[in-house]
Amino acid sequence: MDQTMLITRLNWFYSLELNQIDLYMSQYGNFLGSYESIVFERTAFIEQEHVDNIAAQIRKLGGSPTKLGDVLSPILGKVAGSILSISGLENVLKANILIEQKAMNDYTELINTIQDNYGPELKKVLQHNLVDEDTHTAWFTMRLADYDNSVLVDS
Ligand SMILES: [Fe+2]
Ligand SMILES: [Fe+2]
Repeated sequence: MDQTMLITRLNWFYSLELNQIDLYMSQYGNFLGSYESIVFERTAFIEQEHVDNIAAQIRKLGGSPTKLGDVLSPILGKVAGSILSISGLENVLKANILIEQKAMNDYTELINTIQDNYGPELKKVLQHNLVDEDTHTAWFTMRLADYDNSVLVDS
């Protein structure tokens, strides 16, 4: 992968991470007063770290971090409008899982594609971001399972 293509790919992650900060901060506001709200806020903080570390890698390659606009809607596809406007916890968790899984897939693919061509630091940044997305996915999935169980118990 040449450097221009790599910068383009990194800008996609930069945009995704920025979009996720907005998403999780809006969820923080929507669920204020709940434990989930604190998780969304903390998750947004970690996505901010990803924005910063991706931006630093883009600059090291001679590029400038560029926001590509809304990259979440294509990930969520047809359900985007409804899933993001419905603020129920179940839908929110499902949307978050879809987005985190897309991030994980794409981080994994880029890590495998660049191999060691761009040095160990970029690879390490991408690997650490991947692990963070993995833990976010795990928590959202666990909470969604709890939610499903509680609905079964209540009904
Ligand atoms: Fe992230
Ligand atoms: Fe994440």
